[in-house]
Amino acid sequence: MHEPVLLRRQGHPDATLEAYVADGGLKGFARTREIGQAATVAVVTESGLVGRGGAGFPTGRKWESVRTAAESERYFVLNADESEPGTFKDRVMIETDPYMVLEGVLIACYAIAATRAYIYVRGEYRGAARLLAAAATQLAAAGHLDGIAPGGRPLAIEVRHGGGAYICGEETALFRSIEGYRGEPMSKPPFPTVAGLFRKPTVINNVETIANIPDILSRGAGWLQRYGTDRSPGVKLFSVSGHVGRPGVYELPFGAPLQELLDLAQAGRDLRALLLGGAAGTFVFPGDFDMPLSYEGAQSRAATLGSGALIAFDQGTDLWRVAERLGNFFAHESCGQCVPCRIGTRRQHEMLAALADGSGGDGERERIATLGQVMTDASICGLGQTASTAVRSLIDAESRGLLAV
Ligand SMILES: Cc1cc2nc3c(=O)[nH]c(=O)nc-3n(C[C@H](O)[C@H](O)[C@H](O)COP(=O)(O)O)c2cc1C
Ligand code: SF4
Repeated sequence: MHEPVLLRRQGHPDATLEAYVADGGLKGFARTREIGQAATVAVVTESGLVGRGGAGFPTGRKWESVRTAAESERYFVLNADESEPGTFKDRVMIETDPYMVLEGVLIACYAIAATRAYIYVRGEYRGAARLLAAAATQLAAAGHLDGIAPGGRPLAIEVRHGGGAYICGEETALFRSIEGYRGEPMSKPPFPTVAGLFRKPTVINNVETIANIPDILSRGAGWLQRYGTDRSPGVKLFSVSGHVGRPGVYELPFGAPLQELLDLAQAGRDLRALLLGGAAGTFVFPGDFDMPLSYEGAQSRAATLGSGALIAFDQGTDLWRVAERLGNFFAHESCGQCVPCRIGTRRQHEMLAALADGSGGDGERERIATLGQVMTDASICGLGQTASTAVRSLIDAESRGLLAV
């Protein structure tokens, strides 16, 4: 049985700064101040930590690019937008341990010499935003933000609320939103580490990524590798919802079998399929429930972990209706900036609605697959590029006879 690491303070009755410090909190930050910026980034790089926001980019590499940037004005952004259907692990992480998340922010800001930190919180997460703001105030009052910003100034931490657009979780759209513009993604390169928020070098990290940082600093670079697999070191938070007895957020070491997660969530034996990796993820069928929950394990089954969302569907579920709902989501959330996604997501939704209603013509599945490939190849950002991933995995499963009831 896995002892929680990230969620170890879940249900802790005393969530004050004093209780956090008494429980070993802020040791990672103290270590950072002791060893300095370059060594801190080296520890993070050596730990093997990769981003938990979906893209899996090595965290230390981002930090090093900004630490060594020529420009003195730089930013750190914490991405707490979490708007993917079925994803709620960042909210639980913040509500469980706001100080651990903020300690990670302090370490990151110190390591890259950030001028200012922004925390971008999903608009509906009022409680989580309040907790973070209150924790930041406590840290400031206790002097823990002093001397972090360049020139020995105290670090300013600003909490921003999202306006309800899924696209504002995409890093460049999020920057535009903070800057006061419409949340529309920008083409990359340049990447955020070169020209991010206000066109300055910026590190943006997911909440769960940052929650790993205090332990990595206080326990050493090798600590993360005590959990998980060689290629996916560490633990992962999974948001589980749908047809299970106990929906919620579960923490497991990478590499644990998918069935173990289903057992924790008390899934019944009558599951028809899972949607793994969120709306942009893939459908997984019972024959693959032994899949190891690691990046390489998912890849070996043509699946994706994404940010760790899992939605379960029982035998009574019409999966084409689920696909139609996903199509509706992407058509609604497309920012409309580029044609392949703006038009493609609408046509995709229309075709999926026809399939779900049983009115789809011959060749509808091939047309959906072709359109999906065009969106993947020609869209500006990850939304359009992955809007057809789940749908295409369903078409593929059907061709392999996996949808037969
Ligand atoms: C449409 C879209 C929505 C996204 N939403 C989120 C989100 O809500 N939270 C998040 O951390 N990353 C989200 N991402 C990924 C971010 O762009 C970025 O990769 C991530 O915040 C980097 O942090 P990490 O390296 O710690 O994972 C989204 C990406 C896309 C394309
Ligand atoms: S792919 Fe979609 S969401 Fe992304 S920029 Fe283009 S229209 Fe906007």
